[in-house]
Amino acid sequence: MAILKLEICSGTSCHLMGSFDLYRSLDFLPRDYKEYLEIVKVPCLGKCGEGPNIRLGGKTYTYMTPEEIKLVIKREIDKLRGGKDGC
Ligand code: FES
Repeated sequence: MAILKLEICSGTSCHLMGSFDLYRSLDFLPRDYKEYLEIVKVPCLGKCGEGPNIRLGGKTYTYMTPEEIKLVIKREIDKLRGGKDGC
């Protein structure tokens, strides 16, 4: 059941600024959160100087860290679930 599309920029600039670390940090998301995600790597989100970048549910987030990506994902999925905390 994938509801939210998570696009992680894997372009050169974002790669150099840590996009792989963002991708790897998803291993530590609870499984019931991952079930809501369709995760794809994309070549560039057009904000190369502000990376690493992601787009979640159509909204672009810049300057992401492994901690921030998990918080953003949890926040957006909790909204979909009506505020329930699945942790
Ligand atoms: S390389 Fe990531 S936004 Fe361009």
